[in-house]
Amino acid sequence: MEKSQNVAATTTMEKIVSLAKRRGFIFPNSEIYGGLNSCWDYGPLGVELKNNVKRAWWKSVVQEREDMVGLDAGILMHPKVWEASGHVEGFTDPLVDCKNCRQRFRADHLSTVKCPECGGELTEPRRFNLMFRTYLGPVEEEAAAVYLRPETAQGIFVNFLNILNTSRKKIPFGVAQIGKAFRNEITPGNFVFRTREFEQMEVEYFVQPGTDEEIFRHWLEERYNWYINLGINPARLRLREHGRDELAHYAKACYDIEYLFPMGWSELEGVANRTDFDLRQHSAHSGTRLDYFHQETGERYVPYVIEPSAGADRAALSFLLDAYHEEPDKDEIRVVLRFHPDLAPVKAAVLPLSRKEPLVALAREIRKDLGRHWVTEYDEAKSIGRRYRRQDEIGTPYCVTVDFQSLEDKAVTIRDRDTMEQIRVPYQELVPVLRDKLEDR
Ligand code: GAP
Repeated sequence: MEKSQNVAATTTMEKIVSLAKRRGFIFPNSEIYGGLNSCWDYGPLGVELKNNVKRAWWKSVVQEREDMVGLDAGILMHPKVWEASGHVEGFTDPLVDCKNCRQRFRADHLSTVKCPECGGELTEPRRFNLMFRTYLGPVEEEAAAVYLRPETAQGIFVNFLNILNTSRKKIPFGVAQIGKAFRNEITPGNFVFRTREFEQMEVEYFVQPGTDEEIFRHWLEERYNWYINLGINPARLRLREHGRDELAHYAKACYDIEYLFPMGWSELEGVANRTDFDLRQHSAHSGTRLDYFHQETGERYVPYVIEPSAGADRAALSFLLDAYHEEPDKDEIRVVLRFHPDLAPVKAAVLPLSRKEPLVALAREIRKDLGRHWVTEYDEAKSIGRRYRRQDEIGTPYCVTVDFQSLEDKAVTIRDRDTMEQIRVPYQELVPVLRDKLEDR
């Protein structure tokens, strides 16, 4: 695993925000009403990208492993969950207000005692709980206050027995979950890096105490390599160990996997050793015994938990940033998103060389065939050169060009996004050839 290197971020956030809007990856939320602070919507290409990120994660942590199962728990949970987990008491940030300009800041993010905007005097820090509260039931005064979950992890802990009793898994085993989480962040920002509504991809891996440190290292390596295998430049990925004063209230050890974002090295994913904290807390608060009986040895113990916790939005953002390349192209700049094929929103675009029949009918037929296997696009507008550029800019690995000769030789041209090389293949062989190419990287 690489340690810290001396490299530059690939691009600026402004360029990515602009490309994301222009090409339909990510839009400002409620834009026609002026937007909602730090809220974003994933557009047609963004939803494909984020789905591909989540699919790749699920494949790696569930599908390819014997020791993992999945879960999809509710966003709303019993309020006692958050008392037991420590979030009601401890999930707070220190908040200060400027007495002059009224802006709010996280006290732990400030390097001065004055307001960084206007130099005004700041209030004493107050603890501010990050959980969103809402009410279960139609009459607010009578209804129970509940929280929108600030992490998906607790849904796994409260289902520990259900999963143990139904999945026939033996320790060590783990549970994976992808879902929305909500935090009333004091200082959201940097595009989708820190928002108030986001998606987490979390694993809670249950182990016998004493084996936790070795399994912790296994997961750290697995998760680091996941980003590298999906194309992240190793020079922009590093591990950072949490200092004692930084550790969350439940953690014995924690590493952040950090990416070199345009604003600097920042957390992409955390891998924590949560010990037996959560299961013990839920046992005590619920009165339900949450432990494990080891049949072979006759031992009974409360498992320790190793938790790799990633953000789908941060991962999608880092893949977008890392894929971004600008290259000189005659008098212009060619923008290419060099996505790993598994992540590319569109796998192939079918481009007829002319808008005339019967070329268009053939091209549409080919697009329909490819559409049975992958997300594809059909585009007949403007020059072929412009259409290639458009596909480069959204990261489509292959363009399939249908020309008049195709009517004669029943073959098409495949153009590679990265090498720009072109090969001619019979369209009967198009699906297996593209499959080989897409799976080969
Ligand atoms: N269960 C442990 C946990 O929630 P965390 O470090 O607070 O740990 C895990 O969050 C991951 O969730 C982060 O590494 C990040 O990718 C993502 N995440 C956390 N807060 C976020 C926010 N406000 N906006 C976007 N992603 C966030």
